[in-house]
Amino acid sequence: MKLGFIGVGKIATSVVEGIFKAKINIKEIILSPKNKNNAKILKKKFSRIKIAKSNQEVIDKSNWIVLSVTPKVGKQILEKLKFKASHTVLNFISTIHNQQLKSVISPAKKIFKIAPLPMIKHNLGPIIVYPKNKVIEGFFNKLGKVISTSNEKENKKLWVMTSFMATYFEIFNTAHKWFLRKGINKNKSMEYLIHLFKALNNETIKNPNYSMDKMIKEFQTKGGINEELLNKAKKSGVFKNLNKGFDKIYNRVK
Ligand SMILES: NC(=O)c1ccc[n+]([C@@H]2O[C@H](COP(=O)([O-])OP(=O)(O)OC[C@H]3O[C@@H](n4cnc5c(N)ncnc54)[C@H](OP(=O)(O)O)[C@@H]3O)[C@@H](O)[C@H]2O)c1
Repeated sequence: MKLGFIGVGKIATSVVEGIFKAKINIKEIILSPKNKNNAKILKKKFSRIKIAKSNQEVIDKSNWIVLSVTPKVGKQILEKLKFKASHTVLNFISTIHNQQLKSVISPAKKIFKIAPLPMIKHNLGPIIVYPKNKVIEGFFNKLGKVISTSNEKENKKLWVMTSFMATYFEIFNTAHKWFLRKGINKNKSMEYLIHLFKALNNETIKNPNYSMDKMIKEFQTKGGINEELLNKAKKSGVFKNLNKGFDKIYNRVK
């Protein structure tokens, strides 16, 4: 298989890194000339990578084509590119849907909306695949955990949580910065928090069918400090606002 990337930014780079880590057998990876620096770094690091002279050359030399540009750039460039019916197109673009793409990249009609996350470079993390397809799922299951659906509404709802990564890290960072302000050294702070978050995540991994509401109750003592912090966060509207944020993102991606 020859895999082409249009757009070599953060997520395309992570996917290429993940492919080589997973040792997936690919004949060639063809990168668009943008971003030049990222493409050059990948070419230096891995064999079987070529940098094309244009986006059209990527398409002409590949059978699977990844669209990994921002929505704005996608709208500017896709209409001018020529696809073939035999092409399989992997659409990473958050707010451009397969149905919209269909007329723009006709006669190509094998279009899959894929949501990889940067952790794919370590072959970790959920990867949303729409619609379901055994070959596409088989490929991405080597790179992380495929969550597939053939229901478009469900696909759009799943995409909402791809917005959660930076907020999750901000929670971690708030705790880290508090430690630093209180004079705990950086290494000790990181060591404590990494183990805390890893162990908490492990509780959900070990008990995937357990009620989260029960878990939250079990991780606080009546009148204790976990109860106090949770109540404070609830009162200040943290969780209500997070829900409002999810709704806003849903309106943007649907
Ligand atoms: N990051 C994520 O976690 C994530 C997850 C799922 C889906 N996505 C989606 O994936 C897409 C890319 O996201 P990203 O985070 O990788 O963004 P990004 O880092 O900004 O990458 C976009 C790349 O497109 C390149 N580009 C600009 N104009 C181009 C053109 N005319 N032809 C070809 N390439 C061009 C840019 O090059 P220059 O740097 O030279 O401008 C840049 O390298 C977005 O639609 C996003 O919604 C991202």
